[in-house]
Amino acid sequence: MTVNIVKKYGDTEPLVLVVRKNNVADCMKNSPLSDKEKAFVEKNAEKNCKILNLSTLDIQKYVVLYEDGNLKTLRDSANAVCTKVEKSKKESLTVFCDEKEISLAFLEGLLLSAYKFDKYKSEKPTKVTTVNMLVKGLKKSEMESVLNLCESVCMARDWVNEPVMVLNADTFAKILHDEAVSLGVDVTILKQKQIESLKMGGLLGVNRGSVDEARFIVLEWKPENVAGEQPVVFVGKGIMYDTGGLNIKTGDYMYDMKSDMAGAATMAATIFAVAKDKLPIHLVALIPATDNRPCGNAYANGDILKMYDGTMVEVVNTDAEGRLILADAIAYANRYNPKVIVDAATLTGAAERAIGKYGIVAMHQNAQETMEQLKKAGDDVYERIAEFPFWEEYGELIKSDVADIKNSGAGVNAGMITAGKFLAHFAKAPFVHLDIAGVAFCEKDYGIYGKGATGFGIRLLHQWLKERC
Ligand code: BES
Ligand code: ZN
Ligand code: ZN
Repeated sequence: MTVNIVKKYGDTEPLVLVVRKNNVADCMKNSPLSDKEKAFVEKNAEKNCKILNLSTLDIQKYVVLYEDGNLKTLRDSANAVCTKVEKSKKESLTVFCDEKEISLAFLEGLLLSAYKFDKYKSEKPTKVTTVNMLVKGLKKSEMESVLNLCESVCMARDWVNEPVMVLNADTFAKILHDEAVSLGVDVTILKQKQIESLKMGGLLGVNRGSVDEARFIVLEWKPENVAGEQPVVFVGKGIMYDTGGLNIKTGDYMYDMKSDMAGAATMAATIFAVAKDKLPIHLVALIPATDNRPCGNAYANGDILKMYDGTMVEVVNTDAEGRLILADAIAYANRYNPKVIVDAATLTGAAERAIGKYGIVAMHQNAQETMEQLKKAGDDVYERIAEFPFWEEYGELIKSDVADIKNSGAGVNAGMITAGKFLAHFAKAPFVHLDIAGVAFCEKDYGIYGKGATGFGIRLLHQWLKERC
């Protein structure tokens, strides 16, 4: 994607004006619209619509009416405009706006909407690839920071959309390695042997049924000015594919399980976005990565795993694998003496059943302040968080008869919370758990998030680190 700052409209490509609904006349004053067009917009702006169409036979022109405070609707309008432009097989457009904040939100909507996972399509669909910004006072650096964030989101969407036959733990580790090196992020990849010496029983247990080796990826962003500070440590679920293991998934439930590494993608993409912005934060991302398969020597129900921190875990369901690999990573996180540990994981179907695709299910242990900050950041960027209770009684549900704890609660109730409790057992610092199972992957078109991988949560975490942390 190319974004240019321009001083003049080129007169041929699609044009979109973004104007304040309550002040259309002023907003259009310096625009490339004719007096007649301006009059039309003034006359119709009051109507209950978000986009006015001024297109003629040779040229597409839209006026997007922005209502104060509603950036979400503005991004949705960007999505609608993007679709219209692409439908008419055009790849570039010019955005006119006389307020840069608004224009940047619109640009964000456009960039996210233009993403398509088309690398395996012989005939590529039309994509918007060039946006010209005709915006008073807009600086290159401001525009680039939006572009950087959106590129990080789309990079994560690419990883999540990629099937496991292409992206296994090793290839994923290599991609993250190269990206980290190019951005000045420290990276360490622990391979099978090292994971064995560290005795990460959760990661190794899940990996037993796989023909591919596991990886444990450590990314660290530590700019000089914050080197002494306690880090924020991110942990991301990197199940490259979740068959369910011996508790094999039936029906359609396995279909989108290439997306079971979306938590890992979220955390890696966020640390890369932070590095691109050179934010002054000490940030670590830990990614345990393997697929979950039922072959060969696969772990079985009744197995007892000795985790990295020594906790003994009874496996009662091989499909509750995410928490096993995350537990080792969370225990590993403790060694950084973190300010807070935040994990993102496509952890439970229960989270999706509870609130659908409209937000992230979250819980915290001793991290009230971070939770409040995250909720606010989520509201800022419309990637909202629903906090669930985390009462100690839920902890009772994962006690085991034969080991310390078991990897699934008794019965079907509150599955997202017992999963969270399992993770919290391993955290020795303030801890926030983000269950993104509902939002990470969408079979139907989901506005600016598109079809397939959404990248949901990256803008939220970036906003938190930038503005609220
Ligand atoms: N990866 C799944 C959770 C999931 C479900 C993610 C739907 C995205 C969409 C996870 O590993 C899983 O299988 N969880 C089980 C846990 C159960 C066995 C305790 C679930 O939620 O059914
Ligand atoms: Zn599973
Ligand atoms: Zn899973």
